[in-house]
This record gives sequence, structure tokens and C-alpha cells, in this order.
Amino acid sequence: MEIISTVAALREAVAGARTAGLTVGLVPTMGALHAGHLSLIERARKECGFVVVSVFVNPTQFNNPDDLRTYPRTVEADCAKLEEAAVDVAFVPAVEEIYPEPDTRVFDLGPVADVMEGAMRPGHFNGVAQIVSKLFDYVRPDKAYFGEKDFQQIAVIRRMAEIEGFDIDIVACPIKREADGLAMSSRNVRLTKEQRELAPVIHQVLSDNADMAGDGLDLVSLREMVIEEINSYDGMEVEYYEIVDPMTLQPLGSWDEAKNGAVGCITVWMGDVRLIDNIRYPEIN
Ligand code: PAF
Repeated sequence: MEIISTVAALREAVAGARTAGLTVGLVPTMGALHAGHLSLIERARKECGFVVVSVFVNPTQFNNPDDLRTYPRTVEADCAKLEEAAVDVAFVPAVEEIYPEPDTRVFDLGPVADVMEGAMRPGHFNGVAQIVSKLFDYVRPDKAYFGEKDFQQIAVIRRMAEIEGFDIDIVACPIKREADGLAMSSRNVRLTKEQRELAPVIHQVLSDNADMAGDGLDLVSLREMVIEEINSYDGMEVEYYEIVDPMTLQPLGSWDEAKNGAVGCITVWMGDVRLIDNIRYPEIN
């Protein structure tokens, strides 16, 4: 594995792979790698002859300076994991390499970026579009891999790719969970022992709620049940729970509107740690 820190060297490495006729896969990450990331890499490894993984804590997508400051940074351990996973290139740039000057681009991300994370974290998705568009431009991958834990982010990236004209297969990979159901996330290490013990409640409540969908309950009641139940635990506070159309990300008012299916997306605060998760509801009708 090559560890590369400049854009010029990255472009050169990818050009070599192209000349060799290899399919190029990109897995963008912010490091603090866990089994969720490794599952994306494994999939990329299976489908592509040349795999690039970026490790970069992108400052422009953090709307909260404390969150940026406390975001876990474990570059050495990350590189060891990437080596083990037989990645071809680990791209680990400094902030100045990516942003020699401020990125002032504002993307027209449309309605998918206005709701939920977009409404709660102003500027977040524009920052994601900035960094991912740069990575897409440097690598020009055939395929790029993203985890479905950040369900809305995938829709936003698809939109960015469409408006920027990137012909890239965006591959959405299933959420990887701990044995107790908690969605794997780099932020989980910030939970206290007590918070960590309680955190699986989020997935438990969501899956119970999805199981109840066939019992004739309407979407409004199902949504309220989730919010009420999670908020009933000391130390948990729901920021939002929305049951949305998986393509448009717009909240659904009734099962009749759920032509593309329905996905429940949640954000829960546990102390100063913000956890997100989602669940797909079974098809009704
Ligand atoms: O999902 C993430 O880790 C980040 O938002 C991403 C896609 C790597 C962009 O910084």
C-alpha cells in the first residue's frame, strides 16, 4: 500500500492503474476506521482492481467547531488497518493540500439537502459536496462507496454527482452494527460506559416500530411512538425522527405516499454525542 499526501501523487498513482486497465474504486472516510468502514473497503476490494481510501477530517462540513475539535483522529492505526485490508492507496492529505484557499463553491443540492441533517446542520451538506467533489475529481473513480448509516448523505452525493456531471457508480452499503444493534460510528468511542450500554435502545425502538408497521398504524402515529419512547430514557433526546421517501428524502404523511418505500431517519443526542441511525419499513399494501 502506498500512503500518499499530495493530489499530484494521487493523480499519478490512479493514472498508472488506469493504464494497467484496472477498475478504480474510491472509499472516502474521515478516519477513525471501524468495521463499518472496513465493510465498504471489502466490497470495493471485491469489485475493483485498484482501491483508494481517503482519510481526511474535512473541516468545511463541520458546522460546530467543538465537533471538529473532538472528532477522533487515529491516522497511524487507520493506515495499519488499510494495509491489512490490502488497499492500494491511502490518501491522507493535510488541510492545506485540499484547501490551499477557501472553497467558496455553493452547490445547488435541492430539496434532498434541505430536510433533517440539512435543516439541523446548516452548511454541512455543502461541505460534504465540496470535499467529495474534489475527491471525485482527483480520482475519477468508476465506483465510490458510502455507508447507509448516513442515508441522507448518499442522496446528497448522488445529487452533487449529477449536477457536476460525474459519471460514477455511487454504491450504497448496508449499515454495519455492533452485536447489540448499535450502528457503528466513529463517534461511539465518545460515549461513556453508561451511555454505550443504553445506546442500542435506538436500533431496538426503530426495529420494533418497523415491525409494527403492518398492524394498521399510520405513519404519523408510528413516528410519534419512536420519539416518545426514546425520549422516555434518561440521557437520550431525539433531535428529529422523520419517516421519509428514500429517493426524495421528504417526510411522508401517509402510507399512500410511500410509493418508493419508507425509511425512518433519526438523530439522538446522548450528552454531547450526536448519534444517527435509520430503518427501512416493510412495504405496506
Ligand atoms: O461520511 C463521511 O465520513 C464523510 O461525510 C465523507 C463522505 C468522508 C466526506 O468527508
